[in-house]
Amino acid sequence: MELLPGGGAAVRANRVWSQTVHAQYGGVMPELASREHVERIDDVLEGALADAGLALGDLHAVAATSGPGLVGALLVGLMYGKGLAQALGVPFYAAHHLEGHIFAAAAEAELDAPYLALVVSGGHTHLFDVLEPGDYRLVGATRDDAAGEAFDKVARLVGLGYPGGPAIGEAATRGDPDAVAFKPPLKGQSGFDFSFSGLKTAALLAHRAGAKPDDLAASFQQAAVRTLVETTVRAAQATGRQTVVVSGGVAANRALRAAFGQTGLRVVFPGPGLNTDNGAMIALSGAAAITAGRAPSPLSVGAEAYAPLATVPGT
Ligand SMILES: Nc1ncnc2c1ncn2[C@@H]1O[C@H](COP(=O)(O)OP(=O)(O)OP(=O)(O)O)[C@@H](O)[C@H]1O
Ligand SMILES: [Mg+2]
Repeated sequence: MELLPGGGAAVRANRVWSQTVHAQYGGVMPELASREHVERIDDVLEGALADAGLALGDLHAVAATSGPGLVGALLVGLMYGKGLAQALGVPFYAAHHLEGHIFAAAAEAELDAPYLALVVSGGHTHLFDVLEPGDYRLVGATRDDAAGEAFDKVARLVGLGYPGGPAIGEAATRGDPDAVAFKPPLKGQSGFDFSFSGLKTAALLAHRAGAKPDDLAASFQQAAVRTLVETTVRAAQATGRQTVVVSGGVAANRALRAAFGQTGLRVVFPGPGLNTDNGAMIALSGAAAITAGRAPSPLSVGAEAYAPLATVPGT
């Protein structure tokens, strides 16, 4: 990642090691995740430097995630990042995982706060009002499952495998989105929360009643996309925000992108490869910290399993 002279940042390389070892369990196994981090981190860094045509000595700063997440895996990256920064004599920035997801969009377009940020990932469905980088208000969040988690569970139910989001998106292109009627979650709420457990149960019942997997995928996807888009549009109207960043793994979903494209809002999505977890988004978050004049993090900073981003409890 490179800081551009007029502000903004450009991604020079983005190496991701996807851990396939978890597929057999249908979810991430924490101990295996930590071990794979240890085994792969050198190769990933070397590969990224080679892709960018840079040497270690060219780095001006190092950023690594401190939380929230699985502490064992976080510790590997955090300790590695701190050691690297110390050895190179450059500043170290601890990054927040969700800030990383939000700033993944900063490589696509200039983000002038205030704006809304919808993080739709495997563990979060959180809608933030970004007053300025580093100052966030929670506008709404899921009351139960995260959007990505619901995609994964419905995919598993109809036998599409793990991770389920891309598989549902693919199957949906062959199915009829109106074949199964899903009741809109939290209909009539005055707030901006989300809920996916009802959609999940409805998917189970439709599956038992013999709905075709492709139809079920298309119908579930349509219902999930509608609730995400409609709630975000209402929040934009209530707050007067005109720009919305939509990020996290589910932001790769084509139907979601198309539906947001119809809202009339300025919607910014991360570019290819920057939706699901990646290192470039953490570098972009570090770049935003540098641009905002934030002080580097002390090397005593620890890994946090639970780390709210906004000032509202429970985030
Ligand atoms: N095309 C897609 N359509 C829908 N969902 C998708 C798509 N691609 C990926 N996903 C979903 O995105 C999720 C992974 O995203 P991401 O890597 O951002 O989550 P995470 O890092 O595990 O969660 P968190 O960031 O909340 O800790 C998975 O649930 C996956 O099914
Ligand atoms: Mg993530």
